[in-house]
Amino acid sequence: MENFSFQNPTKLIFGKGQIEQLKEEIPRYGKKILLVYGGGSIKRNGLYDEVMNLLNELKVEVTELPGVEPNPRLSTVRKGVEICKTEGIEFLLAVGGGSVIDCTKAIAAGAKYDGDPWDFITKKVKVFEALPFGTVLTLAATGSEMNAGSVITNWETKEKYGWNSPATFPQFSILDPTYTLTVPRDHTVYGIVDMMSHVFEQYFHHTANTPLQDRMCEAVLRTVMEAAPKLVNDLQNYELRETILYCGTIALNGLLQMGLRGDWATHNIEHAVSAVYDIPHAGGLAILFPNWMKHVLDENVSRFAQLAVRVFDVNPEGKAERDVALEGIEKLREFWSSIGAPSRLADYGIGEESLELIADKAMANGEFGKFKKLNRDDVLAILRASL
Ligand code: NZQ
Ligand code: ZN
Repeated sequence: MENFSFQNPTKLIFGKGQIEQLKEEIPRYGKKILLVYGGGSIKRNGLYDEVMNLLNELKVEVTELPGVEPNPRLSTVRKGVEICKTEGIEFLLAVGGGSVIDCTKAIAAGAKYDGDPWDFITKKVKVFEALPFGTVLTLAATGSEMNAGSVITNWETKEKYGWNSPATFPQFSILDPTYTLTVPRDHTVYGIVDMMSHVFEQYFHHTANTPLQDRMCEAVLRTVMEAAPKLVNDLQNYELRETILYCGTIALNGLLQMGLRGDWATHNIEHAVSAVYDIPHAGGLAILFPNWMKHVLDENVSRFAQLAVRVFDVNPEGKAERDVALEGIEKLREFWSSIGAPSRLADYGIGEESLELIADKAMANGEFGKFKKLNRDDVLAILRASL
């Protein structure tokens, strides 16, 4: 293992009815609240009313920022920052999926920064402080509820970047599986693909002696794969929602990557795809990940074979290790297709003519990927295999 230090300050509040905890949490942070939410799902499923009733009971002053887009945009971040500065906001409450939470993180940091938020999203400056914020999560996917990361799109320049800061961990996150019961089938599938992809990004590394990290990754993957096919045919099942919600958080809250450095190249390529085409993040991942795997397989065939045997139940007997590894990748593709995830860029109408532009976007900060460093030709090869 590599040396590491670990700190995750987010208070996780999990389970049915836990929304009541807002009454304990909010008064710690102030009276002027910015409520951030998306395109209306929380109004349709009653969560908005529930949260507003609690906030009214607390007699806090609420300003609202609705309309955060999936793939949240810099323009909305700027709008939120402006509100925070002019209204003297003391605390932000994000109610929604990863996009709402990511946008809230950027607003919270922007409120304490004198320049334009794009400066820290593009890592030109570092973020040292942010307004405190909490979240009520409504979609199991990104892990943003218990990490410091945020991904923001500049729609004018068609750029999408992830950034993070020790100051942008949520103070608390309320995870009640009930609120995820209304997530439609497609976004349920995307969430499943996203959390599995987060595990893969951390599973493929070159650090020696990570037996517990490996087993924890494999446990998350097996648990997701056991629940997912049942859940996509039984969207109202509370226990399956509960399992998937917990998996999503564990997949990207820092637990799995202690003592190692994950790869994250596939996420970088996907962010370039969705910066140009505004497709769902995990739709892109489902298409790209198996092709990244085939492209980098020879970096460490044994690791891929281990995944194939331990997670995809490939029988290794009498087979070459490389064939076992390839069979595992095929099984991943089959699994994602079986739950309804896309498998080709053509599924989103993306063709050969767009690949150079996507590759340019992906290469904006130079070569990337820790398991295998990818150059422009690598990126193009992975994109071509994904057509
Ligand atoms: O906007 P509303 O009306 O709320 O609808 C949303 C949205 O249309 C809907 N939805 C959410 N909860 C719902 C619901 N519909 C019905 N019932 C509910 N309970 O689902 C749609 C997608 O929501 P979104 O928040 O965009 O999805 P997700 O959580 O997958 O977030 C995606 C964003 O997170 C970034 C992605 O790049 C993308 O921009 N990521 C953030 C990460 C992080 N911060 O750590 C890591 C990830 O790898 C990822 O890159
Ligand atoms: Zn992701």
